[in-house]
Amino acid sequence: MESELARLRDEALAALDTCRDDADIEALRVRFLGRKGELTGVLRGIGELPVEQRRVIGETANQIKTLVEERIVALRTRWQEEQRARSLAAERIDITIPGNQRPYGSLHPLLQALDDTVAIFTAMGFEVARGPDIEDDYHNFAALNIPADHPAREMQDTFFIAPEVVLRTHTSPVQIRVMESRQPPLQIIVPGTVYRCDDDVTHSPMFVQLEGLMIGKDICFAHLKGVLTAFVHTMFGPDTPVRFRPSYFPFTEPSAEVDMGCVICGGRDTGCAVCKGSGWLEVLGSGMVHPNVFRAVGYDPEQVSGFAFGMGIDRISMLRYGIDDIRLFYQNDLRFLRQF
Ligand code: DAH
Repeated sequence: MESELARLRDEALAALDTCRDDADIEALRVRFLGRKGELTGVLRGIGELPVEQRRVIGETANQIKTLVEERIVALRTRWQEEQRARSLAAERIDITIPGNQRPYGSLHPLLQALDDTVAIFTAMGFEVARGPDIEDDYHNFAALNIPADHPAREMQDTFFIAPEVVLRTHTSPVQIRVMESRQPPLQIIVPGTVYRCDDDVTHSPMFVQLEGLMIGKDICFAHLKGVLTAFVHTMFGPDTPVRFRPSYFPFTEPSAEVDMGCVICGGRDTGCAVCKGSGWLEVLGSGMVHPNVFRAVGYDPEQVSGFAFGMGIDRISMLRYGIDDIRLFYQNDLRFLRQF
């Protein structure tokens, strides 16, 4: 019996050495340790042995069983470790290699000028309002005191979509929309794209404006001057000269254009090409809101007053960065855009 056990042990261990995968091991386990396994058979037969042999044989058989089980566990563990070492080697990454550098985008120079302009006015308590790019004739013209036969319509080369529908030629119609839906006091700015049938170095068929409107009790021209001077000084520097020059807009009375000392030549007497020899650059249009505009929105011109202004953000950006052709803003040439 003892030699039979020794044979089983040697055979099991030898067979284990030839195992190449889990399936081999499982087959072997069933063959020796399974319910009908060879070693199991021996253990089961112990009861029939003479009493004096039982203990010795039983002990030996159990030792062999434990030995084989331990070998199986050891073999599996070794395989797992080898497998892990192999995949670690295969998936090895060098975390010291520099990553792929993605190219940075940057804000478009128009957007930078617009963001800064909006920030200056919101700091003064103005709130941002918006309106549609496609406008009706009433909001774009009539309500702004520009009747159908008014020559001022020719100041703006309008894109018509239908007889009474236009691409807005300015952001001023948003003044009307806001006043129609709210009561004074109001202090708003309106950034937005506007459209005119015009195309050269200083005109683009689509460009960006920022409108402003401040309405309340006793708002006067001094408020207009104070707010707009503060804007120019914050945007272009506190020493920038500012002047208010009489002008005409149908929706304001009186109206003023705001000029600042030329950023290129510093407003020297002789001037330069950018300011056309005058030493001054025009930055925006403004004025006290016309009583007819108040009447159009149902405000009483005897009770409220206010000022409005409108500026071209393209122009602000051009002056700020010394850009001499407005079309550069809309061509998306990376060689141009990368400079900002
Ligand atoms: N809407 C005018 C334009 O596009 C600009 C303008 C001038 C707006 C005077 C105003 C203003 O609000 O008061 O030419």
